[in-house]
Amino acid sequence: MTAADQRPKRTLWARLRFFGGVALIFSVVGVVGCVSTFLPAVDTKAVGVAAIPPILGPYENQPAVTTAEAWRTERAPQIREALQKHVYGRMPAPVMPTVEARTPIASTLTRDGAAIEQWAVSLGDLGRFNMIVITAAGDTRPRPLIIMQNFCGDRTAFPDAPESVAPPLTPVMDVCHNAYAQPVIEAILGRYINKPPVKTILARGYALAFFYAGDVVADEPTMAPATLARFAGAAPEGEQPGAIAVWAWLYSRAIDVLAADPRIDASRIAIWGHSRNGKSALLAAAFDDRIAAVISHQSGKGGATLTRSGDGETVAQMTEAYPHWFAKNYASYAGREAEIPVDQHQLLALLAPRPVLLGNGARDKWSDPPAAFRAAQGADAVYELLGAGGLDQPSMQRPNLDARLSYFMRGGLHGVTTQDWRYFLDFLDAQFRPPTEGVETR
Ligand code: GCU
Repeated sequence: MTAADQRPKRTLWARLRFFGGVALIFSVVGVVGCVSTFLPAVDTKAVGVAAIPPILGPYENQPAVTTAEAWRTERAPQIREALQKHVYGRMPAPVMPTVEARTPIASTLTRDGAAIEQWAVSLGDLGRFNMIVITAAGDTRPRPLIIMQNFCGDRTAFPDAPESVAPPLTPVMDVCHNAYAQPVIEAILGRYINKPPVKTILARGYALAFFYAGDVVADEPTMAPATLARFAGAAPEGEQPGAIAVWAWLYSRAIDVLAADPRIDASRIAIWGHSRNGKSALLAAAFDDRIAAVISHQSGKGGATLTRSGDGETVAQMTEAYPHWFAKNYASYAGREAEIPVDQHQLLALLAPRPVLLGNGARDKWSDPPAAFRAAQGADAVYELLGAGGLDQPSMQRPNLDARLSYFMRGGLHGVTTQDWRYFLDFLDAQFRPPTEGVETR
């Protein structure tokens, strides 16, 4: 008998299902391709609502800021306070996590030189999460690290979904489990929406860690409140933290344990997040200056985009669909965005003088990319004040990846593409060079 004779025969029905599935995937990919070509692009020439209040001007009865010292000791704490009160809720107090187990993971990536471990991280009474840590086998020098949060749990991030990778601790979206849906999702949202380009990241000299923040607070409005209550502390009801605050806090808890690993260069830790995870990445860096660089991709409203912009997603739409993401006070600005006392350029300014890259898509109107550019322009003066040089590009379409504050706009929709990762890694390469003499790095 030949090997072919031993293979189980496919029934006619199984063949039809297989070819039907493939045809369906190709049709969806084709339709998406056509539709996205005709979707209108954002208007990059429109002036739009400016970033107010001016970042260094008088703010809430306090005088204008003119020195780096006044920025750090007076204005920055004032903005942190306003963001917690009106937008995200109170950041939970730090706790020291413990790594309870480190399990080696075998994957096809191991053949490409990746050394992969799964860390089981405990937060005591506050919960636990699993994290995948990937370095290069046999490496002797500490590597700069990229930490990211994912949407579908850790197993989906692998090309071969190893069984030894723990499943997410709370339910993820149904599409995450559907093998047929994955090519469609990748066609719509980009090849790297769920799977980071691990081989490329390692080849470029970085280590990588990723985790599903929903392990601690489920990304689901009926399940989240029970766990969020553990983080509420003594905060008044309207200021209790939403999921984004806790997810941001988790980036810091990941750093607590990763920075102690001798394979990691703790002075060069970047965090990366797409969309909702891009919102949490920005907030994390505003409260944790161990974070040396931030890449926030298509973070939209509640992220890099100005709340007052009047375009794209509204506060009402976001707080109705995702009531668990923000503090309750934030929902009270639905329909009266112009009255919110703090806006997102103030969040970006808290990251100065550290490197920040904002990624955008020209047809991603929902996240309102021009208002993220205006937010970067609004934050720029703080980079200048701290002597770091900020945004230094003539338009949204012409990024300068050597500038500390940078913005790129590629074509296409909301998602994570090969081109995006090229920008991300080029930016980190440019920024993680030794700092120029005389310029502060933190
Ligand atoms: C929704 C939501 C956005 C968010 C995005 C995501 O579209 O409205 O605010 O950024 O999901 O996280 O994918």
